[in-house]
Amino acid sequence: MAVSFDFTALTGRERYKLMIGTIIPRPIALVTTVDEDGRSNAAPFSFFNCLSADPPILAIGVENHPDMSFKDTGHNIRMTEVFTVNIVSFEIAEAMHVCGAKYPRGVDELKEAGLTAMPGVKVASPWIEEAPAAFECRRHVTLELGKSRQIIMGEIVYAHYRDGVVDPERLHVDPAMVDAIARLGGDTCSTIRDRFEMLTPKL
Ligand SMILES: Cc1cc2nc3c(=O)[nH]c(=O)nc-3n(C[C@H](O)[C@H](O)[C@H](O)COP(=O)(O)O)c2cc1C
Repeated sequence: MAVSFDFTALTGRERYKLMIGTIIPRPIALVTTVDEDGRSNAAPFSFFNCLSADPPILAIGVENHPDMSFKDTGHNIRMTEVFTVNIVSFEIAEAMHVCGAKYPRGVDELKEAGLTAMPGVKVASPWIEEAPAAFECRRHVTLELGKSRQIIMGEIVYAHYRDGVVDPERLHVDPAMVDAIARLGGDTCSTIRDRFEMLTPKL
């Protein structure tokens, strides 16, 4: 017997619970931005993925606060048109979580989390030295979904990797060195340390 749900009859909260528990694992983008005065901000987003390589587009899903005001990340991207996606390794998992706390606007979560802000090369937002990889992005398109959620697409214009993560000749990225964590449902996260190879059958 299957258990089935009519999504059109569920509440938003019910749909959220089913979706985040089922669409797993979701990578986590630790998004760094700056406000109009150049102050840094960082927050994690697991509604995140890569959508296109040519042009190189990634997307994050940013929800408004319950009172409909923008999260700092959404506000800053709107004002500066740039952001940086830092990949979250197991090593910086705790620091990422600190960045997810509800700090008031203007507080630099990177400082609170003990992470190092490095100056962006092509964008005003900083990248995080401790992250295994970071993508500097220019806002490409923002989709307004419903009343309170934006899908922000960014075009990657520059990338940083920690030593040993990428082979600069072959451009092979070592998943063991990235050691990314993923978000599952609720507060559960996972590593991606259990891997296997699969070759697409040749017809
Ligand atoms: C692992 C994790 C994933 C999250 N994913 C999202 C997400 O995809 N979208 C979102 O709007 N908030 C997400 N949040 C909540 C935001 O990080 C949180 O609201 C944060 O305080 C926003 O910070 P800001 O106001 O500095 O932008 C997530 C939090 C955590 C810990």
